[in-house]
Amino acid sequence: MRWVVFNQKGGVGKSTITCNLAAISGRRGRKTLVVDLDPQGNSSQYLLGRETAASAEPHLATFFEESLGLGIFKRDVREMIHPTPVENVDILPSSPLLESLHGKLEARHKIGKLRAALDELDGYEAVYLDTPPSFGFFTLSALIAADRCLIPFDCDDFSRRALYTLLESLQEVREDHNPGLRVGGIVVNHFQSRALLPQQLVDELIEEGLPILMPFISSSVKVRESHHAARPLVVLDPSHKLSLEFEELFTAIEKGKMAGRKKAVGTRG
Ligand SMILES: Nc1ncnc2c1ncn2[C@@H]1O[C@H](COP(=O)(O)OP(=O)(O)O)[C@@H](O)[C@H]1O
Ligand SMILES: [Mg+2]
Repeated sequence: MRWVVFNQKGGVGKSTITCNLAAISGRRGRKTLVVDLDPQGNSSQYLLGRETAASAEPHLATFFEESLGLGIFKRDVREMIHPTPVENVDILPSSPLLESLHGKLEARHKIGKLRAALDELDGYEAVYLDTPPSFGFFTLSALIAADRCLIPFDCDDFSRRALYTLLESLQEVREDHNPGLRVGGIVVNHFQSRALLPQQLVDELIEEGLPILMPFISSSVKVRESHHAARPLVVLDPSHKLSLEFEELFTAIEKGKMAGRKKAVGTRG
C-alpha cells in the first residue's frame, strides 16, 4: 500500500506523521520506503540526520533529471534509495535541486513518472510519500503514485476552510489522474485536549461526516526534540504518550477506523 501525506499548508505535521508512521511500519516487520518530495527535505533530515541527508546521492532530483533526459548515466531507481537507521525503513531522499527542476518537469508532462518507477519497484510492503506545502508538480506526482491519502489537520479554523478545498482537489485528482486514490483519513495533529475550541472544531467535522481518524495526536515539545535528534519520536521514546498515540493511529489507519460518523462521507470518501 502506498500512502501520501498531503496538505498544502506548511507546519501541520506532514513530515512528522510520514516518518513516525513509516517507523512503526518498519518496526512491525514491514519493508518500508519513504519518498521525500519536499525540496526542503524535512523527512530526509528526520530519518538520516542533517549531514547524511545533505550528502545522500543519488536522490529524488537525480530521478527526475533522468526522466527529463538530463542524466549522464541511466540509473535504476533502486540506486537512489538509501537505508536509514530505523529498522526496515529506506528512503528516496529529497534534494534542494528539486526546486530548479519543477518548471521543466511540469512543462514536459512527467507527472506519471514517479508512479511508473514505484510500480516497477518490488520488495516494499509500505510506501509513505511526504509532500511539499504547495499543490504543484511534486504533490500531484505523489497523489498519482499513491493508493491512500492521509490529511494532517492542525485544529485551526483557517485550516478547516482549506480542508474542504483540499477534499475537492483530491476528488479532481481522482477523476482526472488516479481513480484508485482514496482518502485514508484526516489525522488530527497538535491536539490540545484541555482547550475547548479544538475539541468543538473536531466534533463539528465528525458531525459533518468527514473521515476523522482516532486517536488524535497531541501537541508536545518532544516532537521538536525528536526532529533535532533525527530520530522519529516512536523510536526515540517508544513509551511517550505521543508514541502510543501514533501506534494506535497506525492500527486505526490500517483498519480504516474513523471516529463515529453521523453522516455518509459520500463522494468525498
Ligand atoms: N504533535 C506535535 N506537537 C508539537 N510539535 C509538532 C507536532 N507535530 C509537528 N510538530 C512540529 O511542528 C513543525 C512542523 O511539523 P512538520 O512535520 O515539519 O510539518 P509539515 O511537514 O506539514 O510542514 C515541526 O517543527 C515539528 O517539530
Ligand atoms: Mg514537511
